[in-house]
Amino acid sequence: GGTAVVVVAAGSGTRLGLGIPKALVPLGGRPLLAHALDGVIASGVATRIVVVLPPGDTELVGVCAGYAPAHPIHTVTGGASRTASVRAGLDAAGPGIDHVLVHDAARCLTPGWVFSGVVEALRAGADAVVPAVPVVDTIKSVVASASPRIGPEIVAGTHERSTLRAVQTPQGFRLGRLLAAHAEASTWEADRAVSVTDDAALMEAVGETVYVVPGAPESLKITTRIDLLLAETLVSNGYE
Ligand code: C5P
Repeated sequence: GGTAVVVVAAGSGTRLGLGIPKALVPLGGRPLLAHALDGVIASGVATRIVVVLPPGDTELVGVCAGYAPAHPIHTVTGGASRTASVRAGLDAAGPGIDHVLVHDAARCLTPGWVFSGVVEALRAGADAVVPAVPVVDTIKSVVASASPRIGPEIVAGTHERSTLRAVQTPQGFRLGRLLAAHAEASTWEADRAVSVTDDAALMEAVGETVYVVPGAPESLKITTRIDLLLAETLVSNGYE
């Protein structure tokens, strides 16, 4: 069976503060989405590529159209949340697809070997796979402070760093299992205070085993201006 890669690019990019959709932000003179799609194509893992775009966009549709006819890119409109955008992409995965990789357009410098590593674990029998890297910071959880005059938060606990990983995309899934997890999640999602920030969390919530494979430091998620500066430096040093 085939492997679909769903690239979610429907975010607003508010935290970059540039006033354009994040996927259109130029990096080395080309939109982030173009870098992301180059990476997906170069990895060679995709039998079908679906890009999820902001409603009303025409420029990003143009970026995708530029890959035809050699690499046709299917485009669909995203939703208000990342989860809704992923769902729209999964609905467009098409027939004959066993595995799906969900990738953030914001991780536009992910090397091909990360895609291959995720696909290898799927082919070896995993139903859910995430690429991850060790964390360098010590991670603590916090709660609201009882003395906001002193500070708004206090530490509630410290997590053993050696057991923590920073999880990236592409995250890989057996398509049928991910669709089932999304369907189940939609029944309780609205009642939950927590936001679902990755697809593997839905699989965890329904009791699936999620395997971890190596991620890459250059697979950073471009979120703020400082990430964009780092990405510019990476591109000018040959990370493409
Ligand atoms: O907001 P966050 O940085 O977690 O977004 C990660 C990815 O999800 C980005 O590539 C963004 O374009 C995408 N996204 C989306 N639809 C939304 C929100 C985010 O496709 N409604």
